[in-house]
Amino acid sequence: MEITVCVGSTCYLKGSYNIINRLTELIKENNLEDKVVIKGACCLGNCCRPVSIKIDDGPVLSVDESSLEKFFKEQVIDKLNK
Ligand code: FES
Repeated sequence: MEITVCVGSTCYLKGSYNIINRLTELIKENNLEDKVVIKGACCLGNCCRPVSIKIDDGPVLSVDESSLEKFFKEQVIDKLNK
């Protein structure tokens, strides 16, 4: 699974590097290092929302620090367990 986090200027200002750091921790905590990779991307075209994020070729979603853990559980862990 590939998680793409936007590091374009708007998302950067909204904290995309904090999101990447926390995602990296969550991946380690769940021992998913061999299943999930994080990539950066320049502007996913959804700048008016919080930090843009995408799983594989899925739709562009958005997360902030308070919704990241829920996002990780629903979009990453639950999907990997399917
Ligand atoms: S800068 Fe992230 S969607 Fe545009």
